[in-house]
Amino acid sequence: TPPELIRNFCIIAHIDHGKSTLADRMLQITGVVSDRDMRAQYLDRMDIERERGITIKSQAVRMPWATAEGTFTLNMIDTPGHVDFTYEVSRSLAACEGAILLVDAAQGIEAQTLANLYLALENDLQIIPVLNKIDLPAADPEKYAKELAGLIGGKPEDVLRVSGKTGMGVEELLDHVVAQIPAPKGDPDAPTRAMIFDSVYDSYRGVITYVRMIDGSLNPRERIQMMSTRAVHELLEIGVSSPEPTPTKGLGVGEVGYLITGVKDVRQSKVGDTVTSAAKPSKAALPGYTDPKPMVFSGLYPIDGSDYPVLREALDKLKLSDASLNYEPETSVALGFGFRCGFLGLLHLEIVTERLEREFGLDLISTAPSVTYEVLTDDKKSFTVTNPSEFPSGTKIASVTEPMVKAAILAPKDYVGTIMELCQSRRGTLLGMEYLGEDRVEIRYSMPLGEIVFDFFDHLKSKTAGYASLDYEPSGDQEADLVKVDILLQGEPVDAFSAIVHRDKAYAYGVLMTERLKKLIPRQQFEVPIQAAIGARIIARESIRAMRKDVLAKCYGGDISRKRKLLEKQKEGKKRMKMVGRVEVPQEAFIAALSGD
Ligand code: GTP
Repeated sequence: TPPELIRNFCIIAHIDHGKSTLADRMLQITGVVSDRDMRAQYLDRMDIERERGITIKSQAVRMPWATAEGTFTLNMIDTPGHVDFTYEVSRSLAACEGAILLVDAAQGIEAQTLANLYLALENDLQIIPVLNKIDLPAADPEKYAKELAGLIGGKPEDVLRVSGKTGMGVEELLDHVVAQIPAPKGDPDAPTRAMIFDSVYDSYRGVITYVRMIDGSLNPRERIQMMSTRAVHELLEIGVSSPEPTPTKGLGVGEVGYLITGVKDVRQSKVGDTVTSAAKPSKAALPGYTDPKPMVFSGLYPIDGSDYPVLREALDKLKLSDASLNYEPETSVALGFGFRCGFLGLLHLEIVTERLEREFGLDLISTAPSVTYEVLTDDKKSFTVTNPSEFPSGTKIASVTEPMVKAAILAPKDYVGTIMELCQSRRGTLLGMEYLGEDRVEIRYSMPLGEIVFDFFDHLKSKTAGYASLDYEPSGDQEADLVKVDILLQGEPVDAFSAIVHRDKAYAYGVLMTERLKKLIPRQQFEVPIQAAIGARIIARESIRAMRKDVLAKCYGGDISRKRKLLEKQKEGKKRMKMVGRVEVPQEAFIAALSGD
């Protein structure tokens, strides 16, 4: 296709505002998926995406669209809406010239609407404002068209109105895409440059690399070179997704397609890298992306210790398709052998854990999420701590810094007071507040990421009846008065329970954990003190009184089979006990204490 007839666009929206549904309608209306083959969320391929109704991976799809000026090739890129996957959004944006900004006509602008809009504007994309779900009885397009026009500049009449569900307005929207979004620009005769915007691992075909052609062209069987590593591969297949993979005779300027080279590891085909032709390589790579940095760390341990090798293999396999996943072996007194893993955020953590359990049949326990702390000691040694139990105690600490984020919260104005109170209690500093329309407010705070990864989002949702939405972006490190609180059983620290908290909150954490453990750990033959300590200073204390445990005492009478059953059960239970010093702790107690139920 000549570049004049190509339009590359994406759909950006807050979570649940209907991107995937709108994408489904476009696939149907342009005829690339027949009515018979249509299923909801067509582009969400992973089970977990379909079940949760969320998009995790970006998807590119090519569709023809006939207008009076000719038949155009539309390349649509469906992107995830969740904050953890913002890096997926930003790289998809760089492959487009325009974006449909989709807003639920019953909800209005939300936190990720703004965050994604800003990303799109940074990438100089042409924005088409669209209200979705106008079929809903609760839809108020008049009100939200004003809100949206006010946000991006323009007239409320120019805001399109569609229903991804019924298909109303979708054809007009495609006409607007052709009319308003610029055609891609590039030099067909220059040395080839194609940008990798996604790379996925397929167990049959190896890595499938998605590219957006900038200059030159790529042809089947050609030898290609990755500009960052200089590695040369032979192209086994080149094609486009429409939406099933369809081999083509090549890709030219402005086109979006996929490459298969037989490589097995996504790290060999890095997102953000430039692909060029080995015969006539380009001299300058395209500007890449910054690598996504893990923000949240957690220890993952198999509940059954003998599953450790399975976990290692499973992580190696997931890493093939998720380059943003980081892990290294770690051991814990309480939990045995496991891995310290780095994630982009809490949802990423949840999804990886769920995939490990589901796709590899593992039973896992994860430690409380932690962020990265930079510690400087008095003797000028500095190190990075991602596991609270490694936080130095005993040495004199000169300073500790923690990662900060700029958080944006959107909510109806009635909740402003509640939200400010919550943010204040999480050590937030108010940056500003703005009205978007009559009753929606955007509240901006600077907050420690460590305060958000605990249960901030849950609290925010429950205190605002679900009306508030949140987005945040990293904003550097800041010094804070942080201490490590250890939890000791009979004087022995239990590493999985150590936490790094602000000094003002240390006491509350100590009391909470000691009380929780007192309820969870069964009585032993001797008294067991449970203490919370900062260094050598005890800040909270509980104790479990001694008791002789005699399971048989419960069954008087001579029912021998019942006795045997109880003994069996106790033996089973023993296997799941972990020893902390002389104290036997059932694994369930660790799990319950960590999950905080
Ligand atoms: P993420 O992929 O998680 O970001 O969500 P999404 O923006 O792709 O939203 P999705 O298409 O999954 O839609 C969210 C919910 O809204 C689903 O329950 C849809 O059925 C519903 N929905 C989407 N579009 C419409 C619409 O036009 N009208 C109505 N009534 N419901 C819609």
